[in-house]
Amino acid sequence: MNVLLIGSGGREHALAWKLKQSPLLTTLFIAPGNAGTALCGTNVPIAVDNFPALAQLVRSEKIKMVVVGPEDPLVKGISDYFKEQDDLRWVGVIGPDAAGARLEGSKDFAKQFMEKFNIPTARYRTFSVGKGDALGDATAFIGTMKPPYVLKADGLAAGKGVVILNDPEQAAGELAAMFAGKFGSAGKKVVIEEFLDGIELSVFVLTDGDSWVLLPEAKDYKRIGEGDAGLNTGGMGAVSPVSFADHTFMNKVKERIIEPTINGLRVSGIRYQGFIFFGLINVKGEPFVIEYNVRLGDPESEVVIPRIKSDLLELFSAAADHKLRGMQLEISEESAATVMLVSGGYPGDYQRGLPISGLEGESGGIIFHAGTTIRDKQVVTNGGRVLALTSIDSTWEKALIKSYKAAKDISFDGMYYRRDIGFDL
Ligand code: AMP
Ligand code: GLY
Repeated sequence: MNVLLIGSGGREHALAWKLKQSPLLTTLFIAPGNAGTALCGTNVPIAVDNFPALAQLVRSEKIKMVVVGPEDPLVKGISDYFKEQDDLRWVGVIGPDAAGARLEGSKDFAKQFMEKFNIPTARYRTFSVGKGDALGDATAFIGTMKPPYVLKADGLAAGKGVVILNDPEQAAGELAAMFAGKFGSAGKKVVIEEFLDGIELSVFVLTDGDSWVLLPEAKDYKRIGEGDAGLNTGGMGAVSPVSFADHTFMNKVKERIIEPTINGLRVSGIRYQGFIFFGLINVKGEPFVIEYNVRLGDPESEVVIPRIKSDLLELFSAAADHKLRGMQLEISEESAATVMLVSGGYPGDYQRGLPISGLEGESGGIIFHAGTTIRDKQVVTNGGRVLALTSIDSTWEKALIKSYKAAKDISFDGMYYRRDIGFDL
């Protein structure tokens, strides 16, 4: 089977690495991919939201399966687009329709969905520009809450749309900035919610809309600085499994969160084939949903996927054909850890095009490329998050030691990484 994978980050390299191992795979195309995905298949320079060009590639290469990595094309309706083409509606697409992608594309939709289906999440209210005195009402609402105040731009804001502040005046100022267009149209509607104090984890399922399989869970480290200090990033490292996600906790997650979500989608008439990423928080042993994403996480994928022993392409085919029922995922007992090497200055401004050396090192781990490209036969940096160094061992502590050892072999100008991944477990 020929497969098209859409995206260009570490998640996509991890997916490409796994798909390449499938006996069902004939040729893998990645659009647009990076220097790492080029080792697993054929990169094609098409943007993730150029649907007509992607559809043309699917036609010309007789592709039977499209796997969508990032959220942006899903929110823009790539799955719907393929279903609307008479000759392409039989192509399997891993990723929900635009209706399902609203779980990630609109925080207000996600909160209403959770409220409707009784899924545990923080109490909230939504305020919209143009609906009464939104700023006055929202500021008054803040006055009734205890700090910290959690403000969320409704739409996609490149991971920057959540602001948590302790001071009510600062919160009111931030709100005014969001309403004034700080995040463009994404912030014209703002969810204000209760702050939940706990420890976060990422849980993933693959669903065909009725049945689902649980993937390994992971813990992501989002802040740029050690000890979880400084600005939010896309993720600086991850470990899997997560020690506190024991049998009792995961049973609560399945009963209170996963099952009601899948049922809620079904009764809402949303056909969902793809991944659901539950961004959860453990508050004194009780799971709450912080957010939904409609894709796999990054860098979570770089620890989740290497622990999956089953054939991913077989699972994707089952999900696309609505035949996931009864399928089991075989998961390695071993632990995985990944450390993200990032560009100097990230998550602020940073340089691109810097040569990377040491990629041929024999660390025994896996080097997943995130922001890389090839220029004049040389692998160079091409993003804030550059490489994810994944290792596997009997414990994640041992795996981490290997990843940190591997990091010593690699260099590019300004390279930075956190040396405390897993510190809070
Ligand atoms: P998001 O962009 O939705 O992933 O949110 C970014 C981060 O904000 C999350 O990973 C949490 O660390 C934090 N966050 C979001 N909502 C809450 C909440 N209600 N309580 C505490 N932390 C939150
Ligand atoms: N690592 C968090 C995310 O992928 O959204």
